[in-house]
Amino acid sequence: MACTCVVGLQWGDEAKGKIVDLLTHDHHIVVRYNGGANAGHTVVKDGKTYKLSLLPTGILSPHMQAVIGNGLVVNPVRFLEEVKNLRDAGIAVGQNLVLSDHAHLIFPYHLEEERLFEQGSSQAIGTTGRGIGPCYQDKVSRSNGIRVGELLHPEHLRERLHVIVARKNQIISALSANAKQFDPDALCDEYLGYAKEMRLHIQDTVRLLNQAVKQGKRLLFEGAQGSLLDVDHGTYPFVTSSNSSAAGIWSGSGVPAKYLTRSIGVIKAYTSRVGRGPFPTELDDGPTGIGETIRKIGREYGTVTGRPRRCGWLDVVSVGYSATLGGIDEVTIMLLDVLSTLPEIKICVAYEQDGQRITDFPGGAFLLERCKPIYETLPGWKKDISTIRKRGDLPANAQRYIERTAELLQLPVSIVSVGPDREQTILMK
Ligand code: IMP
Repeated sequence: MACTCVVGLQWGDEAKGKIVDLLTHDHHIVVRYNGGANAGHTVVKDGKTYKLSLLPTGILSPHMQAVIGNGLVVNPVRFLEEVKNLRDAGIAVGQNLVLSDHAHLIFPYHLEEERLFEQGSSQAIGTTGRGIGPCYQDKVSRSNGIRVGELLHPEHLRERLHVIVARKNQIISALSANAKQFDPDALCDEYLGYAKEMRLHIQDTVRLLNQAVKQGKRLLFEGAQGSLLDVDHGTYPFVTSSNSSAAGIWSGSGVPAKYLTRSIGVIKAYTSRVGRGPFPTELDDGPTGIGETIRKIGREYGTVTGRPRRCGWLDVVSVGYSATLGGIDEVTIMLLDVLSTLPEIKICVAYEQDGQRITDFPGGAFLLERCKPIYETLPGWKKDISTIRKRGDLPANAQRYIERTAELLQLPVSIVSVGPDREQTILMK
């Protein structure tokens, strides 16, 4: 009954996909439990680069069953597109990919609602524009939400769409006089077309997963986004609309948390963030500054939107908070090689908030906005480390950086990544 979870401890894009890929040999089923096609997972495997947004990255391993849990919001267009891309790349996708009948469906009106809310609003979140927020709103509002399982009941789906689309058209027109209007019958026909191709994958995943656990199968939970984007525990309101921390695993998969035996927290050796919201250690230091150096070397541009990511120093106040929240047992440090050109490296160890030194992460974006980072400075190693495979071969200053991070977080560092390839990995134990 051993289950593992891999969760990001920052604002997403921590390279969780690589850790999931390294762990697949030891597991039978990989499960996504939150979000949708807002995630951007890049995995380099056997020299090929795969970009996945909605499907679990574990699907790249032929022996794994891949499950999209009930906690996700699914756009059928994206789902079928990713399936096709994988098949075109020679990856077999059939009954090894299972989609929960309780996951919620994203419709084009969700994308339109989001576009109208985000555009030009002073309250904009800087979302990925994938309809994630409006779909979760409809899930929670109950009367407007439609689940994947409803795709298999054409008459029922048509009836529901007639009621919902009429309401949506009213809302959208209220937001903008020129807004698109949607036709319920056209939408229903379109989605029933998708249903034909998706039918094979749709199942009761709660039963499937709990049976698997009872049979002794090992589950690997793949988090999307990072803990600081969690709707309950992140930097609200600049968050995504799901529980992207480990807190989402139980509700988003139906597998009780008591089966989790290994919780792995993934961090970058620095911090990045896309979208709006406070970021105390951000290096907004111009085109020749360290922020831009990190962005360029780390190729910090969004996988989903292509937006340049905001970059800054590692922040152990926020990461420590995420680790506590997730009951994290061990940490993996990714993209350490990106810092190799820097003469010195900073770690944020506390904040100054209204003249006081604090080490507890403040709840809420408006409070975090008032925090200034207090740094500890370590010497850089100024040496290419991308070909190093053993801990002892790392320059002394790189080892020191890893050790100090572990000490500050009071957690062991189990893996250090020095490049995107599977081989560019240092096992610390
Ligand atoms: P949404 O999830 O599209 O609603 O976007 C809400 C916030 O979460 C925005 O700041 C996005 O940039 C951010 N976000 C969503 N998914 C990811 C991700 O996979 N990586 C990093 N940020 C993300």
